[in-house]
Amino acid sequence: MQDCRFVDLNATMEEGRQVAVLWQEEESLAFVANGRAYRSEFHVNPSAETMLQLRGEMRLHYLTPDGEEKVRVLREGEYMYCPPGVPHSPRFPPGAFALITERKRRPGERDRFLWFCERCHARVHEVVFEVRDYAENPVSAAYREYYGSVEHRTCKACGYVMPAPEDRSFESANPTQPAR
Ligand SMILES: [Fe+2]
Repeated sequence: MQDCRFVDLNATMEEGRQVAVLWQEEESLAFVANGRAYRSEFHVNPSAETMLQLRGEMRLHYLTPDGEEKVRVLREGEYMYCPPGVPHSPRFPPGAFALITERKRRPGERDRFLWFCERCHARVHEVVFEVRDYAENPVSAAYREYYGSVEHRTCKACGYVMPAPEDRSFESANPTQPAR
């Protein structure tokens, strides 16, 4: 039997890491996420996910079962449940923090990261991979593949090229962002 573990969330936020993994066990995975300036993709997770807004505000974009895009603002202290398979895009700036819980992926499960065109809403690019270790910061890996290629971020439907962040912050595996 394992012993219990305890985490100081305030201290974790002060460290200001992009992703601070708290634990990764078979049935429970938890991490504190610092916001990103350029969060643009929709994540499709094979497991359920919960998000608790710890500091600052999140604009949570998500798709309903009918494919409609909705935006819900999550304020400090608000908590939400995201069922498996629901495309969601949690957008919050550096210095805002959320506590995310999921479960560790089972063998063969794949996470999907989808981008839609800012002009015509067609699907522009999809990155699919197996998330083995959250400490590897899978979202940043998906960003490097997307923003690192003009072809990947060019809309095949209308030709619009989604701009890449000028500061190239997506190139870093785990950039340390200053805490508020
Ligand atoms: Fe387009």
